Amino acid sequence: MMRILFAASEIYPLIKTGGLADVAGALPAALRAKGHDVKLIMPAYKGILEKVEPIHNSTNLGDPFGVGDLILLETRTTEDDIPIFLVQCQTLFERDGGPYVDQNGVDYPDNHIRFGAFSWAIAMLAQHGNLLGWQADVLHLNDWQTGFAAAYLESWKMNHIPIVTTVHNLRYNGSFDMNQFPDMRLSGELLDIHGIEFYGRFSGLKAGLVYADSITTVSPTYAKEILTSEYGDGLDGTLRAMRYKLHGILNGVDYELWSPEKDPLIKQNYSIDSIEKKLDNKLALLKENGLSEDPTKLVFGIVSRLTEQKGLDLILSAIPSMLEKGVRLIVLGSGDKVLEEAYNELQRQYPHQVAIRIGYDEAYSHRLQAGIDSLLIPSRFEPCGLTQLYALKYGTLPLVRKTGGLADTVFEQGDLHNGFVFDHADANSLYEAMERCLACFDDINAWQQKQKNAMSYDFSWEKTTEKWAQLYRNLIQ
Ligand code: ADP
Ligand code: GLC
Repeated sequence: MMRILFAASEIYPLIKTGGLADVAGALPAALRAKGHDVKLIMPAYKGILEKVEPIHNSTNLGDPFGVGDLILLETRTTEDDIPIFLVQCQTLFERDGGPYVDQNGVDYPDNHIRFGAFSWAIAMLAQHGNLLGWQADVLHLNDWQTGFAAAYLESWKMNHIPIVTTVHNLRYNGSFDMNQFPDMRLSGELLDIHGIEFYGRFSGLKAGLVYADSITTVSPTYAKEILTSEYGDGLDGTLRAMRYKLHGILNGVDYELWSPEKDPLIKQNYSIDSIEKKLDNKLALLKENGLSEDPTKLVFGIVSRLTEQKGLDLILSAIPSMLEKGVRLIVLGSGDKVLEEAYNELQRQYPHQVAIRIGYDEAYSHRLQAGIDSLLIPSRFEPCGLTQLYALKYGTLPLVRKTGGLADTVFEQGDLHNGFVFDHADANSLYEAMERCLACFDDINAWQQKQKNAMSYDFSWEKTTEKWAQLYRNLIQ
């Protein structure tokens, strides 16, 4: 049994903007199921206290940043009953808007202090757990929002427990202007090219990388890609120097939440032995969106943050010719305002074939996954990607660009082919893959074979927890 402190800035179902929350909601639970003592730590954003069990303990950590006391609250999550520490500080975390951006989608100007303070509390708990009633054996950081914890532990110059940092997305490096550095209460000694200095700025992600004992990323292919300048986002040099401690461990799926057999959020449950019932979900989804309910026409779908990463501009170029062939497109997403508007415009042009929903809607994402035929994920880069894994389980065939975790999980050829794959991030390659998808759809036997293959894949967390346990064990010893 190991004691693991798992730190993340979003955890499903408490708060979620993307796949990090799904991972932070599922991996700790899977490790606990194997007998490990995992505890979570996350900021106490507005509204979070109503979503957890009543607080049973609280510790005042003082006011190191001069923004108000940081209070460590101890409770448990209601759904999975996992112990969680919430870092409370009214001025930093009790805000309307998201965890990182305000209601207008603009980054909070004091994110360095917000996640500096969160990281400082993580470091305190990791270092002085004995005084606080629970001493972890290993600290697991996730992404830049927790990376400064490694810097605090480094700057306190004491022996500390081993640190694992997981990179979910290298693009978000949490870098800030040097003149904000004094706010961090960090030693200037760390501002070195081998430390947290990053092209004249300082970076939380880089702190998490350089001071970690082990770095992981969320798929084997992304672990290789990020060593190149094309995918390294300016950190490839750092990562190449650290490749001795870099591992790629594929994310998993929480099949309790994502299984068409028992998903309470979809119209009609179905399984690999009753794929034909999936059609009810398709018809219901089309009806819900006021699109013609013709079952013989292929329905493409998108569930995504609308960002440059996801390659959704390629779809805008490729889809008109596809729509001429009668396919339909159903989209759920939010993010970049230009993309949002471009998709809304597409709907205006093809009101009978295209349905766009701008926003974040967990329940609708399940109906969409169950109801569409093929999920489009033409990402420019994709550390792991979870939506393709969900799609597979629902017999919804993913059409993906061959990159990162998509390359590790979706295959067009081979015995267990389960989707459609293209290489180059251009509209033409995407269009050709859509044509192959359409041709397959018109051959009912070929399509159903792919669906069966897709649904029989097992990407459960149970399969990867042993890899995680082994990694922690090696560090602790
Ligand atoms: P990323 O973390 O890069 O956004 P992932 O595929 O790993 O990509 O995870 C995305 C997660 O967020 C999935 O659980 C997906 O269903 C969910 N998601 C993305 N956009 C939306 C949305 N607009 N509404 C509901 N869920 C969404
Ligand atoms: C990031 C990545 C995504 C990954 C998720 C969870 O948001 O963009 O590819 O699946 O983290 O690790």
